[in-house]
Amino acid sequence: MALKPYARPDVRKEDIAAVCEVLTSQFLTTGPKVPELEDLFAQKIAVKQAVACSNGTTALHLASMAIGLQPGDKVIVPALTFLATANAVRMCGADVVFCDVDSETGLMTLDHIREAEARGGAGIVAVYPVHIGGHCADMQKISTYARTKGWKIVEDACHALGSLHHGHPVGSCAYSDLACFSLHATKSFTAAEGGMVTTNDLEIAQRMRRLRSHGMEADPATGPWAYEMKELGYNYRLTDLQAVLAISQLTRMEEVARIRSDIVARYRAALDGVSPFVKSVLPGGKDVPLLHLFQILIDYKGLGKDRAQVMTELSARGVGTQVHYIPVSDQPYYQNLYGVQNLPGARQFYERVLALPLYCGLTDRDIEDILEAVRDVVL
Ligand SMILES: Cc1ncc(COP(=O)(O)O)c(C=O)c1O
Repeated sequence: MALKPYARPDVRKEDIAAVCEVLTSQFLTTGPKVPELEDLFAQKIAVKQAVACSNGTTALHLASMAIGLQPGDKVIVPALTFLATANAVRMCGADVVFCDVDSETGLMTLDHIREAEARGGAGIVAVYPVHIGGHCADMQKISTYARTKGWKIVEDACHALGSLHHGHPVGSCAYSDLACFSLHATKSFTAAEGGMVTTNDLEIAQRMRRLRSHGMEADPATGPWAYEMKELGYNYRLTDLQAVLAISQLTRMEEVARIRSDIVARYRAALDGVSPFVKSVLPGGKDVPLLHLFQILIDYKGLGKDRAQVMTELSARGVGTQVHYIPVSDQPYYQNLYGVQNLPGARQFYERVLALPLYCGLTDRDIEDILEAVRDVVL
């Protein structure tokens, strides 16, 4: 039986035609499609500036550099995230203060932030909330508190393109200084690899545009050939080939949101309240999430099976699953740096969480097959 993975890119005929058109054009790397994508992205999520880059990790690094992170600074980062959120802080030489998360949502809350602050001591300059799976951390509360502290707020919105939080599109920066997105192939909208940082601050956006291309700027006063390197930067550019794929994908944002939320509704109707050992991760009250992941929490002990057994049995029935995430604070690199951390919410979430297949190509039949397999294996 063919395996249905937990995520799969939704590449349609029109996407392929758009990419082929760029392939035969003058620009394969950075040409007109990159600014076109930036404009479309900014318009879709109602933000003033969108800066494209090579992936979500470089988006987080650009954002970290743009807020001026440096050695001696500390940033509060949830332990329950992908490595890149914490690594971006380390790339600037700053330190991570790992924060616990809610055991039922995987999201950091203000209480967790206060606890991390007390533990982290002096030098905290920023907080990086992560919207796991597409569900949003409570940005209203977090931003009110962070602002009183003078901290910068960078959202890791890599999972949350298209989600609405308190009526605001994620990335509109209603409650943050910057938001970072991934356009990786597993995400709801993809450029194969790609990233975006959004902000309402033009100066910060200009700095990130400079940093993504070697820290250099054109110098027309000297001559049409001239450029100046103002600071140390990187090659974090997106290509036109990637940008045009993302443009094609983003034009159907509303349709994709509808398809994904229909699948989620069907999963929830079939799975929630059916077993004391299984439940889905639910959104906050005022949110309309566009989920990148459909995550369930399984009480493996109660069920009498361990996670490896469940994943293997589901895989044998054609259902691919994945775990997001091993707490970053548990990684050897971070344990060597900061020692063993006691973050029980992150641990409890990690020990139970499992993502089921969620992507646009799933047919009614696929969904029925997945649910039947889940019923057989875990209900
Ligand atoms: C929460 C989170 N942050 C950052 C990233 C990094 O994005 P990319 O893989 O595009 O570098 C990912 C990637 O999966 C992610 O899930």
